[in-house]
Amino acid sequence: MKKLPFLPDRLLPFFEKNARDLPWRKKRTPYAVLVSEIMLQQTRVDTVIDYFNRFMTELPNVQDLADAPEEKLLQLWEGLGYYRRVRNLQKAAQMIVSDFNGIFPSEARELLKLPGVGAYTAGAISSIAFGRPAPAVDGNVLRVLSRITASNWDTDSAGDALQKQYPEGRCSDFTESLMELGATVCLPNGAPRCTDCPVRDICASADDGWQNWPVKPEKKPRKKEIQTVYILRHNGKIAHRRRPETGLLAGLWELPNEPGRKTREHAAEYGKIHAVKQGKHIFTHVEWEMLVYVIDVKAESPEYVWAEQGSLPLPTAFRKLLP
Ligand code: ADE
Repeated sequence: MKKLPFLPDRLLPFFEKNARDLPWRKKRTPYAVLVSEIMLQQTRVDTVIDYFNRFMTELPNVQDLADAPEEKLLQLWEGLGYYRRVRNLQKAAQMIVSDFNGIFPSEARELLKLPGVGAYTAGAISSIAFGRPAPAVDGNVLRVLSRITASNWDTDSAGDALQKQYPEGRCSDFTESLMELGATVCLPNGAPRCTDCPVRDICASADDGWQNWPVKPEKKPRKKEIQTVYILRHNGKIAHRRRPETGLLAGLWELPNEPGRKTREHAAEYGKIHAVKQGKHIFTHVEWEMLVYVIDVKAESPEYVWAEQGSLPLPTAFRKLLP
């Protein structure tokens, strides 16, 4: 591919001049890169900034993360969604402590052994924190490459092609410069800012044609599920319970709920109905339509954990139903 060898010379000065001031760029330790990249996998940069800062203040190193109690982790992750990420993040920290003496390996091949760390995250840690020529191909990078070359790359072939271009001594910035171009110029939604692009002159789809890349896989429609959710109240507390250990939101706290749309008569068996409302939450593969009963109960049934609102970490799907 004739165009790719131009990338470092174009992207590094662009990155020096335009890099956003992001907290995980201040000290590029492997731990900071791991935490930030896992957060950034499904969450926008603007949202991640505060979560990242809080996480690093509360759990400043890999040992702290390995030792953190589950409730603390869930609290630090509350609102970010995809909770499996933080579970894996802790398992990865525990493996680094137990199998690697608390020292991150620098090679992507070794980093791949960590739970929740795939080729992208392994490449990001190896290149950004250790300065190794390890490509990190995410959706942004794939889009940039597809547009520049007007061809349909997959993650592996893009990684192989990029690896050959890594400039000695600048591997860290090269990885981030590709991400930065994708995030700030070669935008995912709406028109890219081609007039500001450092590779405009070599790009096969500059100004026009970018609409065709990357080729999008056909999407299946989301499954709709109807739930009835109960906000059971007693003495300033509400009923919580744990979700099953497998499946959606595995093992997290939830408000009591039942599948399907339950009648007022059914709900009234719990107690006195105070209000009825609707809610909706969109996950990656399913959408919940929720019928919500707010109910004052006579006694605190022992099958639930009764706690003040906000004192236990609740996934957003439930939290947003509360006043
Ligand atoms: N998106 C994913 N990783 C990123 C990073 N390191 N900096 C900015 N945006 C990103």
